[in-house]
Amino acid sequence: MSECVKSQIKASVMAPIKTVILAAGKGTRMKSEKPKVLHEIFNKPLVSWVLSACEDANSLENIVIVGHKSEMVQDFVSKNHPKSICVEQKEQLGTGHAVSMAKSELNNFEGNVLILCGDTPLITSMSLKKFIEFHNKNDADVTVMSAILENPFGYGRIIRDEKNCVSEIVEQKDCNDLQKEVKEINAGMYCLNWQKVKGFFDSLQNNNSQNEYYLTDIIKWGNDNKLKVSGYVLENYDETLGINSRVQLAEAFKTMNDRHLNNLMENGVTIVSPENTQISPETEIGADTVIFPNTFINGKNKIGKNCKIGPFAHLRGDCVIEDNVKIGNFVELKKSYVKSYTNICHLSYVGDSEVGSNVNVGAGTITANYNSITKEKKKTIINDGASIGSNVVLVAPVELGEKAFIGAGSVITKDVGANALGLTRNPQREIKNYVK
Ligand code: UD1
Ligand code: CA
Repeated sequence: MSECVKSQIKASVMAPIKTVILAAGKGTRMKSEKPKVLHEIFNKPLVSWVLSACEDANSLENIVIVGHKSEMVQDFVSKNHPKSICVEQKEQLGTGHAVSMAKSELNNFEGNVLILCGDTPLITSMSLKKFIEFHNKNDADVTVMSAILENPFGYGRIIRDEKNCVSEIVEQKDCNDLQKEVKEINAGMYCLNWQKVKGFFDSLQNNNSQNEYYLTDIIKWGNDNKLKVSGYVLENYDETLGINSRVQLAEAFKTMNDRHLNNLMENGVTIVSPENTQISPETEIGADTVIFPNTFINGKNKIGKNCKIGPFAHLRGDCVIEDNVKIGNFVELKKSYVKSYTNICHLSYVGDSEVGSNVNVGAGTITANYNSITKEKKKTIINDGASIGSNVVLVAPVELGEKAFIGAGSVITKDVGANALGLTRNPQREIKNYVK
């Protein structure tokens, strides 16, 4: 038995962090043409949630191990996560084998390597930071993250000795009857002092019931090699949940949403009906804003204080809404900046737009931002105090000057100056006794 982690806490300097994310698995149970880790929650792939958590936990570089349809994952990662690279694992021979693919990339790295999975999008940067801090304070070489589950079936079990030190991990299929009773499971996340453990990846064995090269063997190997091995129990076990099926994908979506709604409410946002409201965790909302039912907010947005959003509003991302704005029913907003005290209250589409303050956007106003022949998107600019009548189409690119006034039913294709009236309506005709 190795020298177990001492209970006294040592002060330690924060070592640099790099991360390896295992994402080569096929995800058979998703029944999909798409690699599992590219399935989305709030428009963001599972692997991207994990990568964002690592970035926020100050990981210097993330190495994603890809296999099944690797080009698709590689393409996404290179476009969206500049600090990350992909390394291919051609054959999926096990989790230990997967990490060994990153060996040459990490070779001389003096620091800690986090090992995470690409299909656990609920893990937060806060928990990763605490995990790393625990590892550092204990001066550990290997720390495994665990959770206590009522139903541990299927997971690797954390086996502790009489001194409560982690002695090994035994996979479900390799467990004896006594081990099957253990409720502490391996969450599949590790923090490793790379220089101390890199030798493990040259000694991988596959003499187990699945003939796989198990990463979990690193615990016993560490103990046998007199390294300091420790276990960190994550209280909030739902952060460790992996996604293997569409049902679990929907559950993870709900968990992520509920978590964010609670957080918003704790910070002064009123959510009238949380069970009918979806708000991406990447959306910030100021205090005293009220979100009415059946509102769906996707992607990254910033909403100010004292706004009213919904019912039935749809924000599609990249929106900034200043304070005291009303976005009402059946309004869709995308990639737009809306300044304070503006109302867009009914049945409108506003995309690729800049809307000033104190603007009134009438019911049924549409910004026609997309040309489906040229595939181009163009901007609409509406300056402060403009007033737009009902059922107006603003054909972009177009700009309305300050306090411009647009008559109902107009199709505006040219700029309208400050204080001017823009009107494209045909004069009304009246044909006497037409019905007779
Ligand atoms: C693994 C752990 C188990 C733990 C569980 C937590 C091992 C041997 N077992 O089991 O102790 O309780 O995770 O969820 O590590 N992967 C690759 N390449 C491979 C094999 C796997 O990239 O060759 C990836 C998978 O895509 C997945 C992750 O590694 O993201 C975990 O692999 P999986 O086969 O799901 O491991 P489990 O059997 O769940
Ligand atoms: Ca798994």
